[in-house]
Amino acid sequence: MKPGITRRAFGATAGAAVFSAITSRKSASAAVQPQNVVIHPSAEIATVSPMLHSSFAEHLGSCVYGGLWVGKNSSIPNIEGFRTQAVNWLKELGVPVLRWPGGCFADDYHWRDGIGPLEKRPKTVNIHWGNYVEDNSFGTHEFIRLCRLIGSEPYLAANLGSGTPEEMREWMEYCNYPSGSSLSDERAANGSPEPFKVRYWGVGNENWGCGGNMTGDEYATHYKRFHTYARTFGDTRPFTIACGPNRNDVDWTRRFMSVVRPSGAGRGVLPSGYAFHYYQNGRDLPTKFSVEALQEQLALVQRMEETIVVQRGLLDSYLQMQPGPQGQRAGAAPPQRPQVQLICDEWGVWDRMDPAETKKYGALWMQSTMRSAVIAALGLNAFHRHADKLYMCNIAQTVNVLQSVILAHEDKCVRTTSYYAFLLEKPHRGNTAVRVETGSPASPDSISVSASKKDNELVVTFVNPKHDTDLKVTCALPGATPSAAKAQILHHKDHNACNTFEQPNTVVPKDYTVAIEKGRLVLDLPAMAIVTATVRLSA
Ligand code: AHR
Repeated sequence: MKPGITRRAFGATAGAAVFSAITSRKSASAAVQPQNVVIHPSAEIATVSPMLHSSFAEHLGSCVYGGLWVGKNSSIPNIEGFRTQAVNWLKELGVPVLRWPGGCFADDYHWRDGIGPLEKRPKTVNIHWGNYVEDNSFGTHEFIRLCRLIGSEPYLAANLGSGTPEEMREWMEYCNYPSGSSLSDERAANGSPEPFKVRYWGVGNENWGCGGNMTGDEYATHYKRFHTYARTFGDTRPFTIACGPNRNDVDWTRRFMSVVRPSGAGRGVLPSGYAFHYYQNGRDLPTKFSVEALQEQLALVQRMEETIVVQRGLLDSYLQMQPGPQGQRAGAAPPQRPQVQLICDEWGVWDRMDPAETKKYGALWMQSTMRSAVIAALGLNAFHRHADKLYMCNIAQTVNVLQSVILAHEDKCVRTTSYYAFLLEKPHRGNTAVRVETGSPASPDSISVSASKKDNELVVTFVNPKHDTDLKVTCALPGATPSAAKAQILHHKDHNACNTFEQPNTVVPKDYTVAIEKGRLVLDLPAMAIVTATVRLSA
């Protein structure tokens, strides 16, 4: 690449549109600040697991019933009872892992209520989310079918709070044992001869709260019993996920780990994963967010990032080096630390609810705005930068509830701003995250950048969470020479802007210009914007 040729599009979509500049995007009053960024393409962190972009669907409000599931006899277009539009959009976005059935609901759910002929399924009261009656028409088979339709791997949250180890173990056998046992034959009789091969199993949810109001050590004592009966059926070894803390509650983790840590060789009763929850609560209505409330919410993303570092370190402090399988003999395998993977299986924006919307659309129905999209991108950027510490993250939730990627009501359906934030971050999946510097000290509304690479391609996502300041970004790539870039932007100058059933395209991605000047990336990053650039590096 000759230094004089500074801007070139590449890839299948290369063309004039790719570099079409955005005009008139800046509000008249926005200030402009220079911002330096340094990306180190050779400083590798770890693979950005696609599972960091996973999701969660609970029996709550209209997430499942009326949202994802409309029933086979509905006049709303559906595939075997699943809302066609939601299936298509989720498939397009890609949801690597989908967690179900809760949330708080999980610790009051008894899986046998949701299998077998519809007319025989009991009508049960959803005690956590409004005491309404569910007909259990959406159960295990329906969930697995949904996962298959949208290309997700299922993650079942088992009931520890009000359930038994026996109930969880039988659910595992029902799902995973190939054939010949009464439970696997029952599954076949219910329409699924092939085992579901469910790998991810949550053992309770928020057991410090709605899952039993326990302390970390009380929960650990229950966890040990459940863990003992979590078995491999067929060839599916369960990956058990224990309930971790609310936010960065180190006391919960200490109490839990001091009970389950291994005392001799081997893993003992250590879970495979340990999941904390971190919501970015907001004190205003979603579409009437004040600047002060925005600043508070941004600070919570920063603290979620601190939580990843602290909780990972704390877990490691309990995981002693174990001799390899051949013991300590000469030439033996080096000692290894048993791994407990860190997971954040509920995160995202949780604003003040609008009572009129709750009444119309169901509990925790929430609109996503440009602000929500920025929070989603800040969270995903943080996950990429800590790709070496995290295993899976699940945004809460999928449809209608909290920070959903889709809103649906009757026959209407719209992709939220959060859907597009995930779409813009998608090119990082499976790449190797690399180190980024943005200067310090970082305040909650400082620029956020994550970068990852694959072969000779670098993917960079820039997020400007400032509500009133545009940034002129200059991004150095020491040791690498960019030869071409294409980019997309998600931006609205009003942080309260959103996509509605009536106006679904208020905030949608557009092609954008990222220039290459003297070997650096140069771009205008407006206030409240997310830009993802795919950059070709010359050898
Ligand atoms: O996502 C909504 C609720 O938030 C979940 O049921 C619970 O786990 C958390 O408190």
